[in-house]
Amino acid sequence: MQKQKLSFELTIFDGLAELLKEDQDLIAKAVGARKNAYAPYSNFQVGAAVLMENGEVVIGSNQENASYPSGLCAERVAVFQAGALYPGVQIKAVAITATSKNHVVDSPAAPCGNCRQSMLEYETKQKKPIKLILMGETGKVIQCNSIADILPLGFDSSFL
Ligand code: THU
Repeated sequence: MQKQKLSFELTIFDGLAELLKEDQDLIAKAVGARKNAYAPYSNFQVGAAVLMENGEVVIGSNQENASYPSGLCAERVAVFQAGALYPGVQIKAVAITATSKNHVVDSPAAPCGNCRQSMLEYETKQKKPIKLILMGETGKVIQCNSIADILPLGFDSSFL
């Protein structure tokens, strides 16, 4: 028998000013994307911005539905659109931010399990880590170095 502990490193910034300019710009795009969220049921607006290796930025926001499971998270709207627009172009980074009509989101919004799985697919395919930048409306900003870090024991095509 063997026991193994898994750990990963993340960076916590006290505020946006501490980030690289490129990452600040990407978060700004994600903040802009929040405005296009269609979230009449949760009142929780999420924006995502995907920076591609070719310099293009693709944005997405959560799109809800009266049939709740038919809605889609911001990250998946953004990465699927990135894949559809720029097939074969690698993803450098994804910024995600959330706001709410019910309360102040003062800590970073973390991607749900489905979004982690969807983003892992692209990271595995491109064989290069995707940087994640997470922010609420205010407060600290978290940077993760790869999607695999936040989805340990993830499922990928090697199992098929
Ligand atoms: N949501 C996202 O857009 N991304 C996540 O990773 C977590 C949740 C959305 C889905 C739904 O529209 C709302 O936030 C509340 O769950």
